[in-house]
Amino acid sequence: MIIAADSQALRDRLTELRVGGATVGFVPTMGNLHQGHLSLIEQAQNAADIVVASIFVNPMQFAANEDLDTYPRTLEADLSALRQIKADLVFTPSASDIYPQGSENETTIHVPVLGEALCGKERPGHFDGVCTVVYKLFQLVKPTVAIFGEKDLQQLLIIKKMTRDLGLPIDIQSGATQRAADGLALSSRNQYLSADQRAIAPLLWRTLRECADKLPRLPADEVSLTLKAARKTIEQAGFSVDYFELRSLATLSTLSDTSEDCALFVAARLGHTRLIDNIQICAR
Ligand code: PAJ
Repeated sequence: MIIAADSQALRDRLTELRVGGATVGFVPTMGNLHQGHLSLIEQAQNAADIVVASIFVNPMQFAANEDLDTYPRTLEADLSALRQIKADLVFTPSASDIYPQGSENETTIHVPVLGEALCGKERPGHFDGVCTVVYKLFQLVKPTVAIFGEKDLQQLLIIKKMTRDLGLPIDIQSGATQRAADGLALSSRNQYLSADQRAIAPLLWRTLRECADKLPRLPADEVSLTLKAARKTIEQAGFSVDYFELRSLATLSTLSDTSEDCALFVAARLGHTRLIDNIQICAR
């Protein structure tokens, strides 16, 4: 496996690997890799000749009060996991390589509407940071296909729109959410949870599933009551809920029934740890 620690090395090594017209699959990450990330790499291996992963904790997508400094950085373990599953190239740039003028002074990309709802509302500027770094990484790697996890469904929808709107010749594919045996979606932030909080955390997925089973059979007034009751269940278990909402997959606008393709989105905090999850529901 090749490790490219700066963008010049990345370009040079990709030129060599691309000889003969090989297609490139790309999986951007912030490291601290778990089975969720690795499943996306495996999917990229099935979709392209060469697989590139990036590991970059992107300062632009963290607000001043968030966990940029404490975000888990486990480069050696990440590289060994990537070696084991036979990734071809891993890009590990520094912040000054990606943002030579500092992340506050650079041109940014804003995806309207989709980027302003849900996590975009709770974390202003977050998706501008995500889109800007993903665009820059796309420009460096020039992948044929890039894979993003359904775990971050809003992020996936936003990246798809950005790619479409800017006419980027990249096939954006989605990978299914990988979960622990008790249903908790794998996330680098799960390790912030105490043992007590970790025991409560799977309630998020259980509640999403129960709600998604019920909603397609209910009239609109009962949909809203069911969402309220689900939110209460989570709150009573000790979560502080940022949102628990039924939203359109096309526009992320709130819905009162499941007559179009939609998803339930949840973001909730246990102590200082913010967890997100979602479940998609096909139009009835
Ligand atoms: P990160 O949180 O490291 O996630 C990298 C990719 O792994 C994302 O596409 C995310 O959706 C996916 N992923 C995370 N947990 C998953 C799980 N349990 N199952 C399946 N896929 C999962 O998302 C980011 O980094 C950043 O915002 C990034 C896109 C790299 C831009 O900085």
